[in-house]
Amino acid sequence: MKILSICGSPRKGNSEAILNRLKQELEKKGIENEIILLRNKNIQRCNGCVEYCNKNLDCHHDDDMAEIREKMIDADGYIFAMPNYFAMPPGLFKDFIDKCSILYTTETDLTSKRAIVISVGTDLENIKENVRNISENFCSILKIKVIAKGAFVSRSELKGNDNDIFENGLNQDIEQQLKNMAEELAESLKKD
Ligand SMILES: Cc1cc2nc3c(=O)[nH]c(=O)nc-3n(C[C@H](O)[C@H](O)[C@H](O)COP(=O)(O)O)c2cc1C
Repeated sequence: MKILSICGSPRKGNSEAILNRLKQELEKKGIENEIILLRNKNIQRCNGCVEYCNKNLDCHHDDDMAEIREKMIDADGYIFAMPNYFAMPPGLFKDFIDKCSILYTTETDLTSKRAIVISVGTDLENIKENVRNISENFCSILKIKVIAKGAFVSRSELKGNDNDIFENGLNQDIEQQLKNMAEELAESLKKD
């Protein structure tokens, strides 16, 4: 089993720390897990030339998205983790979403894929709205089944560094929640 994690934070922050923790959990179960840090990738913004991609069933950009899409097709499941910016994902993650539209255009079958969607931020309601949006729009349109969702509160700006999610006392059961998510993902893939 192979899980692909996509980190949508533009910095080395809480989203990345959560994905690293999940990777440890998955690897304990013998599940391969690759983390893709979008901030380190060359992803050109979709410029909406649907005349080209619909006709050629390909994107004209020579960027890293072709490889990422291949990895998505190859993986059994995904973990999408990102900050919450105004109850939406950061532009970096939205660029990734838009460049996944080729998967829709080409009618790529992702129905067997399972996903966890996680967001972090300062306001829990905002974070949940972002998670809902990613699950019910992006994942749902691509027919990726979301089997677990996580919304975690961070206050890194108060701590003065990039990552406080495991120590700020605002997510007391975060370790257990992540363990449960890894377990649910593993179980859901076994059933298929
Ligand atoms: C441009 C920007 C907008 C933000 N907007 C919100 C927001 O509307 N609601 C919220 O809960 N947090 C908001 N935040 C806080 C981030 O979600 C929070 O710092 C998060 O921990 C960042 O995730 P990361 O550590 O993975 O980078 C915003 C942060 C930035 C930089």
